[in-house]
Amino acid sequence: MTTPRKIIIDTDPGQDDAVALLLAFASPELEVLGVTSVAGNVPLPLTSRNALIVCELAGRSDAKVYAGCDAPLERKLVTAEHVHGKTGLDGPQLPDPKMALQDQHAVDFIIDTLRAEPAGTVTLCPLGPLTNIATAFRRAPDIVDRVQEVVLMGGAYFQVGNITPAAEFNIYVDPQAAEIVFASGVPLVVMGLDITHQALTTRPRVDAFRAMGTEPGRMVAEWTNFFERFDKEKYGSEGAPLHDPCVIAYLLEPDLFTGRHINVTIETQSELTMGMTVADWWRVTDRAPNAMFMGGVDADGFFTLLTDRIGRL
Ligand code: RIB
Ligand code: CA
Repeated sequence: MTTPRKIIIDTDPGQDDAVALLLAFASPELEVLGVTSVAGNVPLPLTSRNALIVCELAGRSDAKVYAGCDAPLERKLVTAEHVHGKTGLDGPQLPDPKMALQDQHAVDFIIDTLRAEPAGTVTLCPLGPLTNIATAFRRAPDIVDRVQEVVLMGGAYFQVGNITPAAEFNIYVDPQAAEIVFASGVPLVVMGLDITHQALTTRPRVDAFRAMGTEPGRMVAEWTNFFERFDKEKYGSEGAPLHDPCVIAYLLEPDLFTGRHINVTIETQSELTMGMTVADWWRVTDRAPNAMFMGGVDADGFFTLLTDRIGRL
């Protein structure tokens, strides 16, 4: 077996973040150096608590969880209890976490880790607003060239917005942070709504998790049952898009996804389109490509991978 890929998961759990964390912990190809929490779906105290809960559910009370930024760089925090519930992990009853947060701030952990590990060997996996990542890049510009890749969930082109008519939630919450990351020159892979809206938790897929007869399988089934009501109502879809696990699935089986290396620029001026990822999908401008922007996913292959791995926990 080759050396596991070193990753840091930056997250705002959120039921879909939780599934992404379980997928990462279930996959020996990945070494999770740390989990960093950020304010997003719910405020920071809850996203931090939820990250601890999910690590323990994965049997990883040895994992290190670092609390990060509690508000966007400039804008007021916007949360998404209407999607994820008051706790951010509504659905099943969850035990209080026993493990504690690390003392170090998430941003310092990201900077120290990128400086300590050999250049080009650590991948950052943001699953929420980009506040922690942008703060680290701004505070320590030297680390940008040391990042192997940033593979993030955020943005959209054909699917446009899910929190406003123009913007996807993670980018909308902190557009200034997104602007810093997208303009940094870091190797960037963008898993946006264009693909996550193809990865829907249909009934047979949810039943497959429940049929595992394991606690993680039951949790995933109950989280998706809770989480999907919002998307089914809004889009009339057959289930909920499992956004964040697409990031981890890309690390494990990149060929499940197709995309284009194009320019993606973040709207930060107009309130009307604030946080929009203006993706030059048709290459109609001379703006330099800065992101591998995904447009297609093998949804069945994605769920086969996800079910196989969650079934191992
Ligand atoms: O727009 C979807 C994204 O916003 C997902 O990461 C979800 O967890 C929320 O953070
Ligand atoms: Ca998230």
